[in-house]
Amino acid sequence: MRHRRNLLIYVSALVLLSAHAATTRAAELADYPSEVKADIPVNYTEAEVGDYELPDPLSFESGQPVDSAAAWRERRRPELHAIFERHQYGRAPAEPREIRYEVTEPPTPALDGAAVREQVTIHFGTGDTAQHMDLLVYVPADRDGPSPLLLSISFMPNNMCVDDPAVHVGRRWDRREGRRVAADGPSPFPGRLPVRQFIDRGFAIATFCYSDVDPDAPGAIEQGVRQQYLPAGKSQPADDEWGAIAAWCWGISRAVDYFEADDLIDAQRIAITGISRLGKTVMWAGANDQRIAAVIASCSGEGGAALSRRNYGETIAHLTAVGRFDYQFCKNYQHWAPDPTAAPVDAHELVALIAPRPLLLQTGTTDKWSDPKGEFLAAAAATPVYELLGETGVEITELPDPDTLVGGTLAYYMHDGGHGMVPGDWQVFLDFLQQHLGE
Ligand code: GCU
Repeated sequence: MRHRRNLLIYVSALVLLSAHAATTRAAELADYPSEVKADIPVNYTEAEVGDYELPDPLSFESGQPVDSAAAWRERRRPELHAIFERHQYGRAPAEPREIRYEVTEPPTPALDGAAVREQVTIHFGTGDTAQHMDLLVYVPADRDGPSPLLLSISFMPNNMCVDDPAVHVGRRWDRREGRRVAADGPSPFPGRLPVRQFIDRGFAIATFCYSDVDPDAPGAIEQGVRQQYLPAGKSQPADDEWGAIAAWCWGISRAVDYFEADDLIDAQRIAITGISRLGKTVMWAGANDQRIAAVIASCSGEGGAALSRRNYGETIAHLTAVGRFDYQFCKNYQHWAPDPTAAPVDAHELVALIAPRPLLLQTGTTDKWSDPKGEFLAAAAATPVYELLGETGVEITELPDPDTLVGGTLAYYMHDGGHGMVPGDWQVFLDFLQQHLGE
């Protein structure tokens, strides 16, 4: 009898142990063979990451400690923001010049009466250099007051992001032709934005196409908003002035300007989301524009939420190599490429610039190029700032299991899968938004 009991204890211990081992194993990401991109080696082996020391977000550049929330807000935050602005994304004009909102569709019943759809074109400038972006908004029909909103900055024009024939045909950037063309063909992503899911949960959802604001292409500056702000005789922004990411952020802020005047939207509860280079964009937009109440960054990777000092996946050198993505950042960013450890900041401080507002970093287990673990470590290293401001962050130090949300106001979620979003991520986003911006 006693033997049987001992055996039972032994077997259940084994089961527990193997369950634990499975958990631990799942949270360790596989190594991959290294490769070379743009003549620069790419490391995908955890043991080869090397040692590095992160700068302390709660220490001024002078070395003095940041000992209060007020010191963070009034002095340290601006200090860090200025470094990212000057050396990574570039300075954008504070106030837009010559802006005009044209309501191309006033609030109209949509989705069988469940929502109200509104379409607006925001015009920048006039004459030869004029640009415009199309904004599409759905708001729950059944609402007591202005709705909280998720604004998605998207790769595709509005009519290609939703399954709704009433949405005006937008423009997409044609790489081969080097210009915008009408997006009147079938959408490769019909219904990408799960509008109905948001409406049913009491959230408005909006989108605009990033290339309406500035093309995602090197050497195409004359077809975007940045061109309107170049001093006479100059054909490129100065070394500390905006790259394309900062221009896309500027577009997000112009949409927020519009929503501040739109009675359907609660301007205090605007969240933003974007994927990949647009994940980097929403990180910087959230750091820059404190009217944005929450950020969800999908696979933002290097130049976004992944630590640069961690040599895994893409590096600053890959990003800024000529002919790759250098035009997305300011010119100064190239200084950090040879040695990211010499940079005064790292990605955890970009994360900290969003504090105390809700931020969700979503990654994927096999998205090795974007370094999902590097984003987790950035969140963990930014947590003391969230805590100083009275909010919760990511307190665990080991990479969590896939498909598990960890953290609080600053949260991390790694889906089991690759780059970008998988359909189940929307539910996670909605739950996060509901928790932080819901009624
Ligand atoms: C490239 C780039 C990444 C970027 C991605 C994307 O892979 O190296 O930094 O995130 O494009 O935007 O899809």
